[in-house]
Amino acid sequence: MSESSFLCLLFFVITVSTINAEDLIDQTCKKCENRSIILNYGLCSTSLQVIPVSHAANLQGLALIAMELALENATTTLSTIEKLMMNTTSLDGDDEELALRACLRDCLELYSDAAWRIMNSIGAFLSENYETTKTWMSSVMEAASTCQEGFAEKGEASPLTKENYNLFQLCGISLCIVHLSTPAIPS
Ligand SMILES: *[C@@H]1O[C@H](CO)[C@@H](O)[C@H](O)[C@H]1NC(C)=O
Ligand SMILES: *[C@@H]1O[C@H](CO)[C@@H](O)[C@H](O)[C@H]1NC(C)=O
Ligand SMILES: *[C@@H]1O[C@H](CO)[C@@H](O)[C@H](O)[C@H]1NC(C)=O
Repeated sequence: MSESSFLCLLFFVITVSTINAEDLIDQTCKKCENRSIILNYGLCSTSLQVIPVSHAANLQGLALIAMELALENATTTLSTIEKLMMNTTSLDGDDEELALRACLRDCLELYSDAAWRIMNSIGAFLSENYETTKTWMSSVMEAASTCQEGFAEKGEASPLTKENYNLFQLCGISLCIVHLSTPAIPS
């Protein structure tokens, strides 16, 4: 094969696999939005687009990437919470500050637990323990909601609204893709 025909072939292969990966992401996100009243197609497709083509070849790969994105998100939010907590110590220690600190402390615990659960979900998925993965990823979605509701219950504006929303969505997307990528349990 001449060098130029090799390059043509290479270009063709790269183009085709790029299209396939985009297609897969697009179709998967549409399906997930359809299956759920909460999942957002836009967030799903922009989040998953960051994946290198080589990893987006199939649904199993997408499921893993979605969980890794959720883990990265949870870990970053953990350090955001720590910074926010350090910030509240410089306030004058009134009831408002105490309430805010209590909420942040709860969220810190929820998020460190969440990061641990997502890591274990990835491990469970790799060992084909899909039910465990689903249970843990659902519990992380609940953790994001619980963190958010904590502020509302104390009448505080949540400083973590965007973070909680992102984690909730990324876990919902992971869960949906895990469902799509694994065989249904025979009934
Ligand atoms: C999503 O739902 C709409 C309406 O129910 C349907 O027309 C469309 O084909 C569905 N898309 C996918 C990807 O399932
Ligand atoms: C968290 O996820 C959202 C949605 O994909 C993304 O926009 C954001 O950049 C992520 N943040 C981090 C720190 O990974
Ligand atoms: C900490 O407080 C300062 C001053 O109020 C603010 O500018 C900064 O953004 C805060 N940092 C965080 C992480 O909230």
